[in-house]
Amino acid sequence: MSDTVEAFDAVDLIRTKRDRGELSTEQIRWLIDAYTRGYVGDEQMAAMAMAILLNGMERREIRDLTLAMIASGETMSFDTLGKPTVDKHSTGGVGDKITLPLMPLVASFGVAVPQLSGRGLGHTGGTLDKLESIPGWRAELSNEEMFEQLRVHSGVICAAGAGLAPADKRLYALRDTTGTVEAIPLIASSIMSKKIAEGTGALVLDVKFGSGAFMQDIEKSRELARTMVDLGTDAGVTTTALLTNMNVPLGLAIGNANEVRESVEVLAGGGPADVVELTIALAREMLAAAGQPDADVEAALADGRAMDSWRAIIAAQGGDPDAALPVARETHTVLADRAGVLVEQQALPFGIAAWRLGAGRARKQDPVQHAAGIDLHAKPGDRVAEGQPLFTLSADEPARFARALDALEGAYRIGDEGEAVQNGGPLIADRIA
Ligand code: URA
Repeated sequence: MSDTVEAFDAVDLIRTKRDRGELSTEQIRWLIDAYTRGYVGDEQMAAMAMAILLNGMERREIRDLTLAMIASGETMSFDTLGKPTVDKHSTGGVGDKITLPLMPLVASFGVAVPQLSGRGLGHTGGTLDKLESIPGWRAELSNEEMFEQLRVHSGVICAAGAGLAPADKRLYALRDTTGTVEAIPLIASSIMSKKIAEGTGALVLDVKFGSGAFMQDIEKSRELARTMVDLGTDAGVTTTALLTNMNVPLGLAIGNANEVRESVEVLAGGGPADVVELTIALAREMLAAAGQPDADVEAALADGRAMDSWRAIIAAQGGDPDAALPVARETHTVLADRAGVLVEQQALPFGIAAWRLGAGRARKQDPVQHAAGIDLHAKPGDRVAEGQPLFTLSADEPARFARALDALEGAYRIGDEGEAVQNGGPLIADRIA
């Protein structure tokens, strides 16, 4: 039996939130600490998460929750680096490979970009999974290796250590199994606790809305962005957010190796217009937050500086930037069954199809197939001829094609010239500061 007297009772706190009351700073601090210690059980925390989902939290409560999750683990500091640090976080989407060209682009200006990333689960891909398509590339770095790489090359993408905000890890897994992922106070505190604990000086958030995003509704995304920007600002991290459209897959590649290939095209000064637009917009935000508002981002892409930075950073993590990327054993190309204009291409089904091809994982412990995925040959608004390739599925096992094609049933449509294109409007809908 424990001889410590607990400061609060979890049932009282659950009742308070259930009845739309506010939790005090001390109560929130105790709750997260007691949950981390195992004194508060999963069933109690699940009830609390549901009460928060239904009744929300005040700004002060969300800040206290975030600080309590930070206090559950270690914090890092880049103060000794002697250069500004800026990180980017995306709430995730289909074909979202922006971190890959963005990190070396920003690093090429001498600003440190410590991109602590994760692996994908479900239909949104993980940055580490994508980079592991590169032969030899290593995601696991010690803190010393990470700092050395930031000192020399200014950029790193590596696995976030388990020590950052461990309370969040446990709570996130619980939310995943209790229908409580979509609560804005919980999403915002989850993301921001890890970013603030990481010790970045500035942060740019890419908050997605639309069919392939976490939040379909733009107003919910705006609220999430506002909440996260306030949390960052309150913690002394210069934080801004872009609200970006995820109704349509980003770029032409959805998968892992093919997304690396597309990112390298962007670094070579080419690549699809939407990927280039978002990379440039986020780079400008990051550099402005790091004190370089006039940085000529386009020039760094055009003259090879960003590519040089990518090659050095990939090599520093054991990757061979010149190695051939994996290619799938089997492909299946879908052709246009009529002439017209591609008027619809929904992000979510394409994400699910890529996942079913093997690009993503259904369980944390599953491996991903790096060569699996989808290459789009047309985007909404493009004119197509009958018989023209619309997209190509790639997988190692041909048996996967049927289930991927099932997911794509009704996900794209060829219409008549002049018909409205269903893409949900501009790529960058708003900026929150
Ligand atoms: N990503 C996180 O890290 N946490 C959430 O709650 C949602 C997305």
